[in-house]
Amino acid sequence: MSFRMHRLPIATPARESRVAWFLICFALIGVIVAADHATGYEVSLSVVYLAPVVIAAWMLGLRAGLVMAAAATAAWYVTFAGANPYPHPILHGWDALVRASTASIFALVIDRLRLALARSDERLVTVLEGLDAAVYVADNDTGALLYVNDRCRTTFGANVRMLTDIESRLVPSPATVVCAAAPVAQRELVDRVCGNWHLVNRRSVRWVDGKMVTLHTATDITQHKRMEGLAQDRQAKLEMSSRLVTAGEMASTLAHELNQPIASILNYNAGCVELLQTGTGTTEDVLEGLDKSSEQAERAGAILQRVRDFIARREPQFSSCELGEVMREAARLVAPHANRHGVRVDVEPTPDPIRVEIDAVMLQQLVLNLSKNAVEAMESVRPEERRLLIRWRCDCGQVDLDVADRGPGIPAELKPNLFIPFFSTKRDGMGLGLHICRSIAEYHDGHLSALENPDGGAIFRLSFPAERA
Ligand SMILES: Nc1ncnc2c1ncn2[C@@H]1O[C@H](COP(=O)(O)OP(=O)(O)O)[C@@H](O)[C@H]1O
Ligand SMILES: [Mg+2]
Repeated sequence: MSFRMHRLPIATPARESRVAWFLICFALIGVIVAADHATGYEVSLSVVYLAPVVIAAWMLGLRAGLVMAAAATAAWYVTFAGANPYPHPILHGWDALVRASTASIFALVIDRLRLALARSDERLVTVLEGLDAAVYVADNDTGALLYVNDRCRTTFGANVRMLTDIESRLVPSPATVVCAAAPVAQRELVDRVCGNWHLVNRRSVRWVDGKMVTLHTATDITQHKRMEGLAQDRQAKLEMSSRLVTAGEMASTLAHELNQPIASILNYNAGCVELLQTGTGTTEDVLEGLDKSSEQAERAGAILQRVRDFIARREPQFSSCELGEVMREAARLVAPHANRHGVRVDVEPTPDPIRVEIDAVMLQQLVLNLSKNAVEAMESVRPEERRLLIRWRCDCGQVDLDVADRGPGIPAELKPNLFIPFFSTKRDGMGLGLHICRSIAEYHDGHLSALENPDGGAIFRLSFPAERA
């Protein structure tokens, strides 16, 4: 079966068919000669004599074409010469010679054409056989496989006969969202038997016999998928380490923040104990003290939750937020760290609220990373000039969020490297902050750019659409 699939229609037919074609051609010569004779050679049928020659040369090769050329000329000679004497007998011979030569040249040309086509098909098959992808051609009506290449047989087995044999093995990955639409031209499918990934392309082509068929190519992309998975893991680890780095930096700030509610809880509790011991307070006084103590405990819980949200590895969670609220919260996170380094944090709110679809925690992390860089950049600047500005605006559905500093700015030669993981000009810098910021920008279908601050320093600008497509 697989051998038959390789054979092209142009190739020499089987023995029985050869005999059948010979008989057809001889019969055709008989019919033409009879018609020529019956019309008294008045109707010029000489061109028609070429038909059996062409058919024989195309179907059976040069030798068969030459046999037909000789047979057709002989038949014409025998029937014509007796009935229509030329003034000189040699003219009959000359006419026969011209006819035989013309027919032979036709047989030769047709045979050459046939060989050229066969070779071209052979070349195509050689290329297909050498391909690293599985190639298979299926009949559109029956689903039978008309051609499979070597790679296809090694991938899906030597016995594949029908398109369904292959399609029943290749299934979409459970993680892939499949649209219930017309067959897709290109799909990534998993082999149920061995778990390999294939990129399957399909297109309609006209087959050698003129019928429309579907040509499929299945390229093994398992290795590529593995690499993609590794890259994703690496990216996830990078993000995780960045979060941990940032969280580590936040820890001292948070310890500060946590001190306050814990101290308040202690105070309220001590107050309640005193009220109870001395009997000076009413039940309402004690309840009020305990209520306040609970409030402070909740505050401490919220602070801790913030850290947990921050550290947790998670997919982006988009929700509709008011950008101003998210940014003010981010500024609150930034302020203690900035203040400790003598940096004033300014927030430039917009007059109108801006609704955006974002992952608020991620966007806060972005502002935190950029602000941390800004604070570090301003270490060498005079204290009164250390200003960090967070501002945003929305224009025609496009949001621009700026974190601006008054540091030394970014040297032009560093710009191409800024977002490369582990690129850092700091002695103990991790070089992950900006890389993570760019991932966050991409999650929001936006981009992050480093600009020059006209007031001196750098501006990092995140531009993203307010609404997600
Ligand atoms: N606001 C800024 N001003 C000047 N240079 C900056 C600023 N932000 C980032 N950079 C440069 O980009 C580099 C990469 O930043 P980042 O990815 O956050 O890593 P790290 O802060 O650990 O060095 C920094 O080392 C610094 O050279
Ligand atoms: Mg940094």
